[in-house]
Amino acid sequence: MMSSVAFDDRRSRLETYFNATAMEAWARLTSDAPVSGIRQTVRAGRQSMSDQLLSWLPADLHEARVLDAGCGVGALAVAAARRGARVTGVDIAANLIDIARQRTPGDLGLGDVAFRVGDFLDPRHGLFDHVVAMDSLIHYPTGEIVRALGALARRTRRSLVFTFAPETAALRLMHTAGRIFPRSDRAPAIEPVSEPRLRAAIAAAPDLWDFRVARSARISNGFYISHALELVRR
Ligand SMILES: C[S@@+](CC[C@H](N)C(=O)[O-])C[C@H]1O[C@@H](n2cnc3c(N)ncnc32)[C@H](O)[C@@H]1O
Repeated sequence: MMSSVAFDDRRSRLETYFNATAMEAWARLTSDAPVSGIRQTVRAGRQSMSDQLLSWLPADLHEARVLDAGCGVGALAVAAARRGARVTGVDIAANLIDIARQRTPGDLGLGDVAFRVGDFLDPRHGLFDHVVAMDSLIHYPTGEIVRALGALARRTRRSLVFTFAPETAALRLMHTAGRIFPRSDRAPAIEPVSEPRLRAAIAAAPDLWDFRVARSARISNGFYISHALELVRR
């Protein structure tokens, strides 16, 4: 099964949120424009996470096919392309894909990037050597994350790197302290995930039998807390 009603419902709320409600805040956060102190910590944390995930891909990405699943405005996709990869960036928010296209530099050396509007679970995107999902599964509960990873795994030859929002006291505090992004009834929450529960669910998922968890890293910088895991073929 490619997706579920719960997944589709969540995805459509995320589309509204990233395409409209939070679009400008997101465009600003991902640019060089000045932002508040809180958002500066998020921006710096996100840069560290992007660097971390990219460091888990082979140094030589020439000819490698990479999927940036939930690519947003495409910074990670472009960075991978600069290292020679043939990147597909997919996001459900058409406005963010427009920004990604505008921000793509003309010269990517040997690499290239194609941005598409759609669901990253759509099998029509093809097969990939590596799949990267930076902070695009953080809005889904554990069960949906594992189902999504299972669907992506079938199209991944080598590794799948993704992040989740770790269930920590600090993260819970941030949730009560208020949201970082614009308030809206439709704002999709970030789902705090227990790492042991997630690891157990990955180990038990039939679709992931051929993968094991390899590297793991948590980035915690002010208001940004995110945890990356690498799944590699056994
Ligand atoms: C927090 S943003 C992160 C964007 C980007 N990866 C980054 O780190 O800058 C999450 C993104 O995931 C996208 N997204 C969530 N679920 C998706 C799905 N099923 N298919 C495609 N995009 C999705 C959202 O539209 C949003 O742009």
